[in-house]
Amino acid sequence: MSDWVASPGAPLRGEVAVPGDKSVSHRAIMFGAIADGITRIDGFLEGEDTRATAKIFAQLGVRIDAPSDGVRIVHGVGLHGLAPSSEPLDCGNAGTAMRLLAGLLAAQRFDSVLVGDESLSKRPMKRVIEPLSKMGAVIESDDGRAPLRIRGGQSLRGIDYALPVASAQIKSALLLAGLYAQGETHVREPHPTRDYSERMLAAFGASCAFVPGEAAVLGGFPLRAREVSVPADFSSAAFFLVAASMVPGSELLLRKVGMNPRRTGLLHVLRAMGADIAEENPDEQGGEAVADLRVRYAPLRGIEVPVEHVPDMIDEFPALFVAAACASGETVVRGAAELRVKESDRLATMAAGLRALGIRVDETPDGATIFPGELRGGSIESHGDHRIAMSFCIAAQRAAGDVVIRDVANVATSFPGFDRLARGAGFGLRVA
Ligand code: S3P
Repeated sequence: MSDWVASPGAPLRGEVAVPGDKSVSHRAIMFGAIADGITRIDGFLEGEDTRATAKIFAQLGVRIDAPSDGVRIVHGVGLHGLAPSSEPLDCGNAGTAMRLLAGLLAAQRFDSVLVGDESLSKRPMKRVIEPLSKMGAVIESDDGRAPLRIRGGQSLRGIDYALPVASAQIKSALLLAGLYAQGETHVREPHPTRDYSERMLAAFGASCAFVPGEAAVLGGFPLRAREVSVPADFSSAAFFLVAASMVPGSELLLRKVGMNPRRTGLLHVLRAMGADIAEENPDEQGGEAVADLRVRYAPLRGIEVPVEHVPDMIDEFPALFVAAACASGETVVRGAAELRVKESDRLATMAAGLRALGIRVDETPDGATIFPGELRGGSIESHGDHRIAMSFCIAAQRAAGDVVIRDVANVATSFPGFDRLARGAGFGLRVA
């Protein structure tokens, strides 16, 4: 278990190229694997989560070449070409892998077992098991947690399902199962979530229709391989957007960041707090909007985060909490109970970490009020959560003393090389 010691460095300057999008990388491997033909993926995230997905498909008999960093060549086996694995399939820390694979594997002719690390084994899986069971899937779990034992050989039928919580992972699991189901699988969301699965399914030739908040797929249509160019991950860029907004004298340029509107809620919120973030060179990459983001230091003020932005920034709350700690005036977060079931209970871990640095945080069941103040040095438990570790690294750039961040190995799940990029931009950060 390695630790970081972070402290104020120089003003953040220069260009930062953040790695590929995690959500898109997972899906590109999955859809490429069950397509007919060869899918080339550029900009693939070399993170532990997405590598776990690639390894699982290799176990399921799919040849995946990695000719260079960030490139994968997936030799698709078609909808019905996956082979059983005699070993459990290890999703590591990746909720996206486990939930989407639950949908895909429930439709296969063979049995599978999905396992995960300690954190993933505590996360709720009933939310995916229940609707899949309505489709005819047979999945045993440990009272709604992994391991998931998936019984193959079922014939699935399409359902019309209203998700009780906004979740792109559950929506995607149902769409994947729907590729194999009789008739149409229709998913309705309480609030629109990231639409990568439906966009990619349509691009791969599936019969998939979607509008914000609803998606439907017709079973029985094959997928056709195609190239996928993965944009830079907005969630990884978010740490630099917040850091440069907080450290006086900073100006950073983040190149070709994915700007899918279902991901950029933090941009709206930071701007409402007074951040200076400009979008330059708007473009398209692999069917997704991208832009260069130029962020300059600007004094931030606290706000009430509009509840409608919550799903569009669900992974960015740890970073937002840090921005709120350095703003003037309180920031209020509501409607974000989902944060309690991420890689850690992010409301509790952020509140505990900020308190350790001298910041008052009042937690509620579905949010928190953050009262800004002077950050002091201290010791933080990341609880093995990558985004908690990176968020406190940002906080340290405004702290009065060293911030020790314990257990940072999981940063590699989503952002390998974060520490090198951060130091290059001016962060004070060393491995303890
Ligand atoms: C993801 C969906 C979100 C997000 C996760 C990635 C995806 O999870 O938090 O990091 O790729 O579909 P939920 O579906 O649980 O909201």
